[in-house]
Amino acid sequence: MATLTDPNPATRAGGIGARVTRVDGPAKVTGTAEYPSDVAVKRPLYAYFHTSSIALGRIESMDEQEARALPGVVEIMTWRNTAGMLDTVPPSKGGSTSIPVLQSADIHHDGEIVAVILAEDYETARDASHRLRVGYTSRTPTATFGSTGLGPELQKDGPRFKNSNVGNAAAALQAAAVKVEQHYATPTQHHNAIELFTTTAQWQGDELTIHEPSQFLVGSQNTIAAALRIDPAKVRIISKYVGGAFGAKGMTTSRTGLIALASRKLGRPVKMVATRDQGFTIATYRAETRQLVKLGASRDGKITALIHEGDEVSSRMDSYKVGGTETTARMYSIPNVASKVTVQHADRNTPGFMRAPAEVPYMFALESAMDELAIALQMDPVELRRINDAQIEPIEKRRYSSRSLVQCYDAAAKAFGWDHRRAARPMSMRDGDWQIGWGCATACYPSMIAPSFARVSLSDSGAKVEVAGHEIGTGAYTIYAQTAAQMLGLPVDKVEVIMGDSRLPPAPVAGGSNNAASISNAVAMACMRIREQLAAAAVNDPKSPLHRRDAATVQLMDGQLRAANGTGEPLAAAVARAGGGVEAMVGNNPKNLPPEALAGLRKGRLMMTGGSMAEDFVKYAFGAEFVEVRVHRLTREVRVSRMVGAFAAGTIINPITARSQLMGGMIWGISSALHEATEIDPRNARYTNDNLAEYLIPVNADVPKVDVLFVAETDREVNPLGIKGIGELGCVGTAAAVCNAIFNATGVRIRELPVRIEKLL
Ligand code: MOS
Repeated sequence: MATLTDPNPATRAGGIGARVTRVDGPAKVTGTAEYPSDVAVKRPLYAYFHTSSIALGRIESMDEQEARALPGVVEIMTWRNTAGMLDTVPPSKGGSTSIPVLQSADIHHDGEIVAVILAEDYETARDASHRLRVGYTSRTPTATFGSTGLGPELQKDGPRFKNSNVGNAAAALQAAAVKVEQHYATPTQHHNAIELFTTTAQWQGDELTIHEPSQFLVGSQNTIAAALRIDPAKVRIISKYVGGAFGAKGMTTSRTGLIALASRKLGRPVKMVATRDQGFTIATYRAETRQLVKLGASRDGKITALIHEGDEVSSRMDSYKVGGTETTARMYSIPNVASKVTVQHADRNTPGFMRAPAEVPYMFALESAMDELAIALQMDPVELRRINDAQIEPIEKRRYSSRSLVQCYDAAAKAFGWDHRRAARPMSMRDGDWQIGWGCATACYPSMIAPSFARVSLSDSGAKVEVAGHEIGTGAYTIYAQTAAQMLGLPVDKVEVIMGDSRLPPAPVAGGSNNAASISNAVAMACMRIREQLAAAAVNDPKSPLHRRDAATVQLMDGQLRAANGTGEPLAAAVARAGGGVEAMVGNNPKNLPPEALAGLRKGRLMMTGGSMAEDFVKYAFGAEFVEVRVHRLTREVRVSRMVGAFAAGTIINPITARSQLMGGMIWGISSALHEATEIDPRNARYTNDNLAEYLIPVNADVPKVDVLFVAETDREVNPLGIKGIGELGCVGTAAAVCNAIFNATGVRIRELPVRIEKLL
């Protein structure tokens, strides 16, 4: 029988592990790939959001006269005509916020939607928005850390994370020969995908179709149904391509229900494309953190104590938090660990997932502190990670299903030339006016898997894979085609992948880097059902050369149905015997998840396992990243001049798309270190740089050379195909590696991101 863990036979035809160029590449570069806001609908109305100019208070008056008088304005929806018509779906049920929209005159955060203007064209709707006169009474809002009025923890909705407590961290720290105790901080960030937040809604009778970029079609389908109090079977979401998501399109924002409501009310399709600045407040973001890390070690570098405490910001009504200490507490072999995460409530919109939500901020702190400890110990920071490597995590004492962190350090250090480091001392490398520094840090990401359905059909013209999955730019269309090609013994160009429609077999959220593992394993399972059907028919057919062979040993390879001894028949003959086509629809429920997880997926529930969650093993992908920076002696300008990352993530389905994912992650990491931060005006709790001119992201000139290496790794525990997700792995640890390099260049330690010139003066 073809085993899932042996991927070698079909790679030459574009199977698992083959360097297949993106199957959707031509559609994207020729402009024929249809993004949701490209979809043309008949006689649409255009919606424009009017958003609040205060963060906390009430609407006292709203004069719609001038706006309504504008020719082309059809309707204005406010709380006065919309209250009671739309239910708020909290984050725990698939929504993005518990803050109700257009349900009362209350204002909860800056930029909250207070009116939806509907007009015959976009410009008129926008013009009318400017003519709406809204009077507010305003109270002083709480913006962020340091503002008065920060609320205590609500713990009412949102993920709860266990604080870790093993051994006696305080006592071990007290007794440690060498200590580091420092505060770290990470800023607010917004995803800022090139594709804006868009929704197009259209009704046919009581059936609703939504065109909207989505990371979770089935979730969105159910969330919108819940918001509108209708049957989810009446809702269809279509999202063939997504122009950047990064976590922002995983939970359904309230806008979708509003636009659907508008369309139903007015009996016409409604199209809405939010502006860039509205995207900062009508969707989610990465909240700022403050962290305290204490590390204690013996003089030989053995870490004896870790205390890691984090504070995060959320809205008044939600307790969303990322709790990255789940990961940092298990990262190294430390006998005494204490961690704690709390959330503080402010008058802000509710935060949410953003690329490696937990690991990016928390590993910045831990990996910076590790570098500080190495310096205090006068030890090579690579050596410090080696000495404290954990094959068994210290909290529940489970084995890592596989962990190749040390191998990643070895591979990346060699490629980077780490041994040639002239001196570990800061300010020891120079090129004219440029101070050069080298640094490194650990990357990691939990290896998640979720239930998924998939349907595969095979005919004499090839195979078709159907799943309500998502192409968020990762190469999803390509890798599912490769998986089916591998399992069916077909060339990859004979496999068509159909995704992006909630009517297809349900797939989990394209988040938590789970989709490659979740969907590929479901696709593989469906292909195995097809093999079983074809093999059973062949061994029972006296006319087949496979007659009376053992069906279990019959494989699909090289376009043949083939027995173990090499006897075979063309796939076409096997398909003809099955009446010209054969189909398999499967639902794969990964081990460690309860049986109801599959049925839950149909209802849009999010159930995943992996990382520190399963009982048998702890499951993570790892990497090591090395960075060279150049800091100008006088201007303090920082340039990243070189970067090497080595990653071990089990089965790599496609080295080309995987490299792009990891490279993109590392570039995002540079961005986290040097560029990105949403600035908040503490007086009015307002995001001030809510545009792409002032919200900085790296351009090509900021990213000179990024090398991505793969360390071979076979993991037989994570899932049958041995896949560990890589979407978020590359951006974890990078910011620490950059700051560690900056310290090596300048002797200045940056503990608050992003690095700005003034912090290096
Ligand atoms: Mo990712 S932030 O889990 O979409």
